Amino acid sequence: MALPRSWNGRLRLPIVAAPMFLISGPDLIVEACGAGVVGTFPALNQRSSEGYAGWLDEIMGRIRPGDAPFGVNLVVHRSNPRLDADLAITIDRKVPLVITSLGLNRDLISAVHAYGGLVFHDVTNLRFAIKAADAGVDGIIAVSWGAGGHAGAISPFAALDEIRRIFDGTLLLGGALSTGRQVAAARLMGADLAYMGTRFMATAESMAVERQRAMILEARAADIVYTPAVSGVPGNFLRASLSAAGRDPDDLTPPDTLDFGTTDAKAWRDLWAAGQGVGAIEDMPPVAELVARLEEEYRASTRRLAAEFA
Ligand SMILES: Cc1cc2nc3c(=O)[nH]c(=O)nc-3n(C[C@H](O)[C@H](O)[C@H](O)COP(=O)(O)O)c2cc1C
Repeated sequence: MALPRSWNGRLRLPIVAAPMFLISGPDLIVEACGAGVVGTFPALNQRSSEGYAGWLDEIMGRIRPGDAPFGVNLVVHRSNPRLDADLAITIDRKVPLVITSLGLNRDLISAVHAYGGLVFHDVTNLRFAIKAADAGVDGIIAVSWGAGGHAGAISPFAALDEIRRIFDGTLLLGGALSTGRQVAAARLMGADLAYMGTRFMATAESMAVERQRAMILEARAADIVYTPAVSGVPGNFLRASLSAAGRDPDDLTPPDTLDFGTTDAKAWRDLWAAGQGVGAIEDMPPVAELVARLEEEYRASTRRLAAEFA
């Protein structure tokens, strides 16, 4: 298992609660880390760099020694006017983990390494994984078919195997992982960590609004639409949220320019990202309760497999 050395003994389960735009905030992060899984949030969830710094200070004040590490997601794309300012704050606060998406930046990686931080980068195919490995990231996140938000169109089996052949660092798998049994399956497939978004959106501490929660509880995998219509990059969204916003889920035109919510969250406020793992979600427990359940399921399935194959 290729976990970062500094994380040894700090995780109760091999899980990262993935960053989610407009969904993850301090309560979710603090509870995730306290429960023993990595908590993360996008810097853009605060409307300004000052707000982002405020959240970091709050989170760092609330997490306890011995809790799991936390991380932030920085959108490394030219449409993000805050990247330099947010990176400076990230460096100043020595955030333990930086997750980069939508672009790779070698200077950023060096700057985070210089203070002892780790950089994970999310990818949707092998070509981007090779670039990330060459740039020296510590972890690669394979965001595979069925993942909530921007997602790849490659089977998790194929994605993990291809990436493992070229990368011996920490390998994460994202995409429709909602139960402890699926986390165990991800480990068996060669992932070091499961990268779970949608399941953590369905918790008491997430910032999801009531209607969004109801839609998640109602939805099954077939109710998720893979479309570039929201941001210009293909991703998975709740079909019902597209209909409710007056869009025809079967006839969607992408926006004229890429929209990653870097300057305006308008599209993302009504068109709700979610992964195919919604079908396994039947409640909105507090994070601590969810992690305890995931641990029970994870341990039971690994025990069962070990006994079967002994
Ligand atoms: C509502 C929502 C918002 C998301 N926002 C972001 C984001 O701001 N940055 C990012 O890197 N990934 C984002 N993602 C993707 C997640 O980090 C992760 O890749 C994905 O949730 C994993 O798949 P799963 O949802 O099937 O568990 C988002 C996902 C969801 C469901």
